[in-house]
Amino acid sequence: MAFKPAKFIDEQTAKIKDAVGGEGVAVIGASGGVDSTTAAVIAHRALGSRLHPVFVDTGFMREREAENTAAVFKKLGIKLGVIKASDEFFAALKGVTEPERKRKIIGERFIRVFEREAKRLHAEFLFQGTIAPDWIESGSRAAGGAGGAGEGGGSRDTIKSHHNVGGLPEKMGLRLVEPLRDLYKDEVRLVAKELGVPSEIFNKQPFPGPGLAVRVLGELTSERVAACRRACAIVEEEIEAGARRGEFAKPWQYFAVLLPVKSVGVQGDVRAYSETIVVRAVSCADAMTARPSRFPPEFLEKLSARLSNELKDKINRVVYDISFKPPSTIEWE
Ligand code: XMP
Repeated sequence: MAFKPAKFIDEQTAKIKDAVGGEGVAVIGASGGVDSTTAAVIAHRALGSRLHPVFVDTGFMREREAENTAAVFKKLGIKLGVIKASDEFFAALKGVTEPERKRKIIGERFIRVFEREAKRLHAEFLFQGTIAPDWIESGSRAAGGAGGAGEGGGSRDTIKSHHNVGGLPEKMGLRLVEPLRDLYKDEVRLVAKELGVPSEIFNKQPFPGPGLAVRVLGELTSERVAACRRACAIVEEEIEAGARRGEFAKPWQYFAVLLPVKSVGVQGDVRAYSETIVVRAVSCADAMTARPSRFPPEFLEKLSARLSNELKDKINRVVYDISFKPPSTIEWE
């Protein structure tokens, strides 16, 4: 049966009202992505000002992410709290290079930040924009709340522990509500559109919860994260411009990854020995499988030249990732 976004919204709004009751207060982590924004707008429909969306600036966000998210929420008539927490995230991750440890530490930090915020706001409920691939790939069927009507799944091994699944509510004494947990990305986009979420959000490519932390392989120093942030902005800008000019179809997801792999190059007449940027762009329907996007060679050359130029102090090599999912995943960690 075809998915009906309007019916889904009405059903979820009623379920949320039922679960939270007439006085309950809730928080939601709003990252500016389509999942958390959509979950926040549905929850706001049901709860009004008893819902507190909070943007946690972890230091691993993309360029202008906090400002853009605040502007979108303002347009939607919803107040967004912004918490600057990058110092505590960087401190907790000092010296950590193993991907799963990074994810666990970031998840734990989120708990601490949310714990403080929930306490301050006297919240008893936590909303999350978890969608089906998040919990399927985390190998968990974390307890569902008002929206948790899913069946099956959960028998697969953990591929990556998506930080927005599991752990959080139990440790915080909050009740979890996940209105989108049975939806796939394309369905979330239909719901977002139906809710009047601005197109810059529902057309936005996915961005992982741990953010640039899983795109900077190796140690997370502020300098390396800044290089990856700039590279991601360049990749986004160039690919979006190329797609607008009709040179290729816009990929489903496109970004840069910084590798701790140094290679020899030349800069001017001088030997250079520095790190590597990977350009990753994929097309797919639901993130469970993906294929590398195709670009004209001239476009890739231009992109490579711009990345090398603007990041010449940080990197001296640009490579394009031609891996399929499976066996690779879309992100590198
Ligand atoms: P992978 O890399 O597993 O990613 O092929 C599939 C999709 O999920 C995104 N992703 C995440 N999303 N929290 C999220 O909300 C996470 O921890 C996370 N890790 C990966 C990824 O960007 C891709 O769209």
